[in-house]
Amino acid sequence: MAIEWRAADRQLHLHNAAVSYLLRVLDNGWLGHLHFGAPLAPGRSYGHLGAERFDGFSNRVGEPVPLELPTPGSGDYRVPAFVVEQPSGSTVLDLRYVGHEVRPGKPALPGLPSTYVEADSEAQTVEVTTRDGPSGLEAILRLTIFEGRPVIARSVTLANRGSERLVVRAAMSAVLDLPDHDWLLVQLSGTWARERHVHAAPLLPGRRSIGSVRGASGHEHNPVLLLRRPATTEEAGEALGISLVYSGSFLAEAEVEPRGTTRLRIGLQPDGFAWALEPGEELTLPEAILAWSGQGLGGLSDAWHALYRERLARGPWRDRPRPVLLNSWEGVYFDFDHPRLVEMARAAADLGIELFVLDDGWFGERDSDTSSLGDWVVDRRKLPGGLAPLAHDIEALGMRFGLWIEPEMVSPRSRLFAEHPDWAIGVTGRPRTESRNQLVLDLSRPEVVDHLETAIAGVLESAAISYVKWDMNRTITEPASAALPADRQGELFHRHILGVYELWRRLTDRFPDVLFESCAGGGGRFDPGLLAFAPQTWTSDDTDAAERLRIQWGTSLVYPLSAMGAHVSAVPNHQVGRVTPLATRAAVAFFGVLGYELDPRRLSDAERREIRDQIAFYRLRRDLFQGGRFVRLRSPFESDGNETAWMTVSADRRRAIVAHYRLLARPVPEVNRLRLRGLDPALTYRVTPWAATPGPGPTLHGGDELLTVGLTLEPIAAPAPPGPGDFSARLFDLEAVVG
Ligand code: DGJ
Repeated sequence: MAIEWRAADRQLHLHNAAVSYLLRVLDNGWLGHLHFGAPLAPGRSYGHLGAERFDGFSNRVGEPVPLELPTPGSGDYRVPAFVVEQPSGSTVLDLRYVGHEVRPGKPALPGLPSTYVEADSEAQTVEVTTRDGPSGLEAILRLTIFEGRPVIARSVTLANRGSERLVVRAAMSAVLDLPDHDWLLVQLSGTWARERHVHAAPLLPGRRSIGSVRGASGHEHNPVLLLRRPATTEEAGEALGISLVYSGSFLAEAEVEPRGTTRLRIGLQPDGFAWALEPGEELTLPEAILAWSGQGLGGLSDAWHALYRERLARGPWRDRPRPVLLNSWEGVYFDFDHPRLVEMARAAADLGIELFVLDDGWFGERDSDTSSLGDWVVDRRKLPGGLAPLAHDIEALGMRFGLWIEPEMVSPRSRLFAEHPDWAIGVTGRPRTESRNQLVLDLSRPEVVDHLETAIAGVLESAAISYVKWDMNRTITEPASAALPADRQGELFHRHILGVYELWRRLTDRFPDVLFESCAGGGGRFDPGLLAFAPQTWTSDDTDAAERLRIQWGTSLVYPLSAMGAHVSAVPNHQVGRVTPLATRAAVAFFGVLGYELDPRRLSDAERREIRDQIAFYRLRRDLFQGGRFVRLRSPFESDGNETAWMTVSADRRRAIVAHYRLLARPVPEVNRLRLRGLDPALTYRVTPWAATPGPGPTLHGGDELLTVGLTLEPIAAPAPPGPGDFSARLFDLEAVVG
């Protein structure tokens, strides 16, 4: 890993064995972009990959010169990195190279989550300063290359070194110019209860944009841009992507211009955004993580998974095995009291559950979602002794106790709102739109962050609380803050998220041993920004096994198994009414951080036995299910979507678990062999079907056979009907045989 500066051609080359990122100072002082992707040899000039001579757009207006920090109004008609309004009203900028500095390690970003290193030897960072003379605006570009990882971390600070106020109207964390458009844009989109479905379409001339204007990254689009070549598969071919470490409104865009080149950009959502920079002030933009793979989409996922698991998530829980939990929500919703919770907990302990989580409804007078958010005091009608005796009773059963909170919200029917109506986001003199009967607190105000820290810390100190589920159930409307002047209202969305991060930072710092799980009406804020504080996220409110196949598959394109909360719930499923076998529900939820979301008192003896076996099976293989290399085999988004298959493999490739799921059973099924990946071809594996799902065995197979011929799912002589029925799953445990 190194960052090479070639003074003769003013070229910067960040390279390691896995990736290269190249830029160059052009004749006019602008930063030109030369390459991001396959590793190129150091010690060479690559100037010819960009515009060989470039002294500005005079006489060649509109040419697709690849630029690192493009700005509007000087001949580049593509989407810009920044729009900065100057006192004259002009947004024309001329950002010229001033100098650069290479440092070992990687600096933190003020107020923002970011990837990090534990030793300076893990990475190198170059900081390139550019300056617009007339306005005094500086754009400081920061690029980090890590040892051995096919990723580049990129961030930018905009600084007003002039003498007059500037207003930033658009600010992108990353812009990436690519020399062609022979790509499919892959996006992770959906809505509540069907988040992160995979959609792929060829790039066409013009712009294609996704994003959020809601004040949260949202259920609708994940903050990531993924490109793959038309022939790229899960295991082969080129793919690249940019993932934004941010949880607020964002824009992600691809533009193909007439000469066929592509520009990608991702950053803060410009709609409604305006950030005033007074002389001396700075604005640091969220980090973007660029990843490149020559080994298909799987290679891209490997890169993000490893980085996000190892150097984005932090705190003691980053590397600890995560407990199997029971969450009270779908079991009892708001309807509980101390004795009933203890009964539930007793039944849960008997199943092998390790953590009992009390969800919504324990505070204020909250019997439905119509009241009490903001009043973080125990509801003594339900829990007369408070949380401490409940936590005590649960710990006495051999489990840990966890609690749900939703700190960023306030119910109009609450004491907090009565005392501080102006703490809710809204336009004075206009009605505030309610969603789920609640309003969003204005976390751009430091006093609101202070208050919430005190209130939530008080709760966490009041009892033996080992886990917190931090929920967020609505996004922002009527975006206005009573505390910001009129000319700074355009800063609210970003300032609010900075306040949210500050609250997360303070609480996770104060309670390092508490395991935090983030949640936003399911997966409405499943993004790298929050992963920096909470190592796991509630993936979706949809707990139906069939729906979860698509949600977990899509989520896995960017996020590791250790980040995905996955629960087994009761049937008929509460979101879609579907009845699926208990074994299938578990076989899906195993791939991630396992939980149960049902009332264990209502289980039959047979179900109880089955769940006990499930949990025992999972606990023995927890390292694989939570931390193995996740390999996607058959996509629920391809063909007719009837089959899904994936697997998880240990780092030493000696152990693996393979899962195959079929939605609808069909008569006389096709002969079916599933080619595995990630195994060692030289080893022999014992393949044992999980006792709860059908399959012959154990049988012995060479790694080479499993990788090339495959694992036989439907043999040539079909078993006599009836088969396993609809929504079936099969799970295979693979272990290398010694000798
Ligand atoms: C939405 C979450 O996603 C659910 O799991 C549950 O915690 C409810 N909120 C509680 O209001």
